[in-house]
Amino acid sequence: MRALLLEAAGLGGLRMSERPDPVPGAGEVVVALRAAALNHRDLWACRGFKPGARPAVLGSDGAGVVASVGAGVTDLSVGAEVVINPSLHWPAHQPFPGPEFQILGGPTDGTFAEQVVVSRRNVFAKPTHLGFEEAAALPLSALTAWHALVTVGRLAPGETVLVPGAGGGTANACVQIAHALGARVIATSRDPSKRERLAALGAGLALDSAGAFAEEVRKATGGRGAELVVESVGRATFEQSVKSLARGGRLVVYGSTSGDTVQLDLVPFFLGWQSILGSTMGHAGDFAAMIAFVSRHGLRPAIDRVFAFSEAPAAFAHLDRGIQFGKVVLAF
Ligand SMILES: NC(=O)c1ccc[n+]([C@@H]2O[C@H](COP(=O)([O-])OP(=O)(O)OC[C@H]3O[C@@H](n4cnc5c(N)ncnc54)[C@H](OP(=O)(O)O)[C@@H]3O)[C@@H](O)[C@H]2O)c1
Repeated sequence: MRALLLEAAGLGGLRMSERPDPVPGAGEVVVALRAAALNHRDLWACRGFKPGARPAVLGSDGAGVVASVGAGVTDLSVGAEVVINPSLHWPAHQPFPGPEFQILGGPTDGTFAEQVVVSRRNVFAKPTHLGFEEAAALPLSALTAWHALVTVGRLAPGETVLVPGAGGGTANACVQIAHALGARVIATSRDPSKRERLAALGAGLALDSAGAFAEEVRKATGGRGAELVVESVGRATFEQSVKSLARGGRLVVYGSTSGDTVQLDLVPFFLGWQSILGSTMGHAGDFAAMIAFVSRHGLRPAIDRVFAFSEAPAAFAHLDRGIQFGKVVLAF
């Protein structure tokens, strides 16, 4: 099969190669991919590749058809249309996983290949209202969004949620899911044209990420602020995000694209009864709940651009430019 291998650091270290087709072990399933999608994680992986490391097949998101099943898999037929949960070794409904936790796509070979082998537990029926490209755009982003908003953030209908950097794939999923949950959504983006498009996804207000947006969040909420903020931009927006919080507000952090280290003014934080919570990915129960929710509400992830699998390095370069709105997808 064709597989995109990361053999050296940087986007120049990606190489289309031939690999043996995977063979399913007991309890495993081989999925023939019809589409895969990129995440910022794939860019981090390219940058962080250590010389001498085993070449990796990246890719956490994928949808396709079951090509073969291993011993003991009796409830899934060859040809079934499926989507893959990329959270590996996280038992359902545990608040957080153990040290064996991994994300599909490095070190475990991922979805940037014609076939991938995963545990039966990670394979879910593809939502019937979505094509393969849309279904492939869901897993990592919508799972992370669901866990951050619902499981950790406890978002309730009628609350206001702030989503900074909402042109990105995961933040984009946060906007759609939060809106469908009945929350009032305020989003931010650096790009005026993305701010316009965010309204169509359910953002009642879209502000400039580079501005003093906390003041505008307060104005728009009658001075109260947002009950929940889901942060993934990090240093560039963190201060304004904290200032946007309501009394008793929750700030859930799941990423730090623009920088890891931030400053926190402690006095207004503790006098405001606020909390900061960390969140990463989600468990199988989250994945099942997210898929059911997406199906029930007929949600469609925003797709920025679809590249042929053979053009995967160009898709990486596109994501690296940060100009996308929603997900960058590879079609097989
Ligand atoms: N912990 C987890 O489980 C988990 C899961 C998914 C993602 N993440 C992390 O979350 C982050 C987003 O991931 P993604 O795949 O959704 O990324 P993405 O699609 O590349 O989106 C990143 C977005 O962040 C915004 N942004 C980037 N740099 C910025 C800056 N300097 N100032 C203001 N905004 C900036 C941009 O939004 P605009 O274009 O709208 O300005 C950009 O589109 C990454 O750091 C990723 O590692 C973590």
